Amino acid sequence: MFNIEKLVRQNIRQMKPYSSARDEFKGTATVFIDANENNIGSLAGNNYNRYPDPHQKKLKSRLAKIKGVEPEQIFLGNGSDEAIDLLLRLVCRPGQDALLQLPPTYGMYEVSANLNEVRIDTVQLTADFQIPVEEVLRQLKPETKIVFICSPNNPTGNSINPESIEAILDAFDGLVVVDEAYIDFAHNPSWTTRLQEFPNLVVMQTLSKAWGMAGLRLGMAFASAEIITYLDKIKPPYNINEATQELALAALEKSEELKFMVEEIVQERELLTHALPRLKSVLKVYPSDANFLLVKVTDANGLYNYLLGNGIVVRNRSSLKGCEGCLRISVGTLEENQQLLQSIEEFR
Ligand SMILES: Cc1ncc(COP(=O)(O)O)c(C=O)c1O
Repeated sequence: MFNIEKLVRQNIRQMKPYSSARDEFKGTATVFIDANENNIGSLAGNNYNRYPDPHQKKLKSRLAKIKGVEPEQIFLGNGSDEAIDLLLRLVCRPGQDALLQLPPTYGMYEVSANLNEVRIDTVQLTADFQIPVEEVLRQLKPETKIVFICSPNNPTGNSINPESIEAILDAFDGLVVVDEAYIDFAHNPSWTTRLQEFPNLVVMQTLSKAWGMAGLRLGMAFASAEIITYLDKIKPPYNINEATQELALAALEKSEELKFMVEEIVQERELLTHALPRLKSVLKVYPSDANFLLVKVTDANGLYNYLLGNGIVVRNRSSLKGCEGCLRISVGTLEENQQLLQSIEEFR
C-alpha cells in the first residue's frame, strides 16, 4: 500500500522548513523593512528589489484552471530539472535507496541520482521503445523508491503505452513519475487526468517546449496535495524568480496562440517524417509524438560532423544503447527544415 509518510525520508519529515520574512508576516502594511531588500529601488526596475512570492499563488491559480487540477496539486520548479532533483531527494536516502529508469531516456534522472548518491537500476526499453512491464516488476526492490517514465520519451519521441504505466502504478508502492515535457505535441491525454486514481503518481510538465519559454525556467509537477506539500517544504524558498512569474502569467493568457504554434510544429514534424526517408543516407525515421525526430542514418558521426560544417547542430545520440546510428533532430522553422533536408541530400 502506498503511504507517503512512510516513503518520505525521515530527516525531511522531521525538519522545519525555512520560514521567509513574507511567510511570517500576515496582514497589511506599507513599510516593508523585514527582508533586507534595497528599499531605494532596483537597477532592473519593475519592483525587482522585492523578493518574489515564494508560493507563486497567482501563477498556480492560473495554471490550475488551464490544467484542470487544484492549485494545491501543483509544484513549480526552476525548470522540471529542479523537480526531478527534489523528487529524488524527497524519497531516496543517499547511499541506500535506488531509482529505476528506462533507457534510452532523458539524461537528468541519472545525473540527479549520481549527484545524490542514489543507485540507478535500469530496464532497457524494448526494440519499439516500450516498457517490458514484467521485467520492470521483477526489478523493483525494497530500496527502489521512484520510477521515472518519460512519455513522450526523449530521445525516442514515442508515447509509452498507458496500460504499461498503469500496471506499474498499481504494482509499485513508491513514486511513479511520468515526465510529460512533450505532452503538448501528443494526441493522448495527460496523466494529470488520472491523479485522483493513483496516490503514487507524479506528472511533470514544463513551459520549456510547446510554450516556448525554455529561457525562463519554469517546470511543473502535479501530484496529490500531500506530495506537493513535501516538495514545497524542501525547495529553495524563492526558486521561481519574479520576472519568470510575471512573464509566465502573461503568456498563459495566450493559449490560443499556443495552439497555432503547436499545430505548426506538428505539421513541420509530419513533413520531415515523410521527407527524410526519401534521402539516401536516412535509414529510418521513428514515429514521434514530440517536437523532435529520432532518425537512423547510414553514418551518424559522419553526417553529424557534415551538418556541423554546414552550420547545423543536431544531437548525436548514436552512442546511446538502443539508439545506435541515430541522430535526434528538433523540428525547426520551415526554412530551417528545408535547409536541413537540402544539406542531408548533399551529404556524400
Ligand atoms: C524529458 C524531459 N524532461 C525534462 C526536461 C527539462 O525541462 P526543463 O527545461 O523544464 O528543465 C527536458 C528537456 O529537454 C526533457 O527532454
